[in-house]
Amino acid sequence: MDHANVVEEVFEVVAQSAPEIRGALPGRRTETSGQNPSGELRLAADDYADELLEERLGEIDGVGRYASEETEESVDTGDGLSVAVDPLDGSSNLKPNNTMGTIVGVYDAPLPAAGRDLVGATYVLYGPITTMATAVEGEVTEYVVTDGEREAVRENLTLPEDPAVYGFGGRVPDWTEDFSSFVEGIESDESLRLRYGGSMIGDVNQVLTYGGIFAYPALQSASEGKLRLQFEGNPVGYIVETAGGRSSDGERSLLEIEPDELHQRAPVHVGSTELIDRLEDALD
Ligand code: F6P
Repeated sequence: MDHANVVEEVFEVVAQSAPEIRGALPGRRTETSGQNPSGELRLAADDYADELLEERLGEIDGVGRYASEETEESVDTGDGLSVAVDPLDGSSNLKPNNTMGTIVGVYDAPLPAAGRDLVGATYVLYGPITTMATAVEGEVTEYVVTDGEREAVRENLTLPEDPAVYGFGGRVPDWTEDFSSFVEGIESDESLRLRYGGSMIGDVNQVLTYGGIFAYPALQSASEGKLRLQFEGNPVGYIVETAGGRSSDGERSLLEIEPDELHQRAPVHVGSTELIDRLEDALD
C-alpha cells in the first residue's frame, strides 16, 4: 500500500474506534492504573483506548510501529510507517466531564521522528458531539463521526483570517517573564477572548474553528513545558500548519525539532500566523 492509502486506513480505524472509546468512558471515570512514562496518573480509560488502538492500528498492513504516550517503549507491528498515539488526551477532564481527545501522528520514519517526517495526522474531539480533524497531503478536513462513520463538514479547512480566541496552559506565576509580557499584549486586545478548557485538543479545536492561539509554554520550573512532542506537539503542529497557521517551540516550527527521546517534551504554541510571529518576537 502506498503511504496515502495507509494514512487513510489509519484515519478510518480511528473513526471506527472513536464511538467505542467514547462508550467506554462512563464506567472508567475514576479507576486508575499507575503512571505513564511522563509521571502522570493513568486512568482505566487511558488503558482501554491504548489497547484498542494498538490492536487495531497495529493490524493495518503498512503500519510497522505503534508508540503510545501511555507506554515506555514502542511496539513492532510489521513493516511500514510509524504511528504515535495519545489514546486519551486530557483524561483528567474525564472526572468533571469536560472535553478530551485522541491524537494520532503517522510518521514515515522510525520513532522518535521529526514532525517533518509526518505524512498524516488526526485528532478526535469528544465534545458534545464527536468530531475529527485530519491533515494529509496539504489538506485539513473536519468530520462529524457518527457510529464510526465520518461525514465531512469542513473541507480544505483554513484558519479564519481574524483571530478570536486564546488559551494558555501552565500556572501563571510559573510562566517566564517574556511569555507573561506576550500574554499581556494578547489580553489587552479587545478582539480576543479567553477560551481554555485544560484539554489540548479541545483548546486547539477552538483555534482551528475561530482562529487564535493555544500554548503550553516553557515554564520557569520546566523549560520544555509539559506536552510531548511525538504524541501531542508534532501532530497538532502539522494539522495547524496544514490549515495555514503556524506552530512554534518559541524559536522555530515544532516540525523542525530533531528529537532524542520518544517521550521528549517541548513548549507548544500553535495558531494564527500573525500571533505566533508576535510570540516568537516576544520570546526572542
Ligand atoms: O498532556 C495532557 C494535558 O491534559 C493536555 O491535554 C493539556 O493541554 C494539558 O495537559 C493541561 O495541563 P495542566 O493541567 O497543567 O493545565
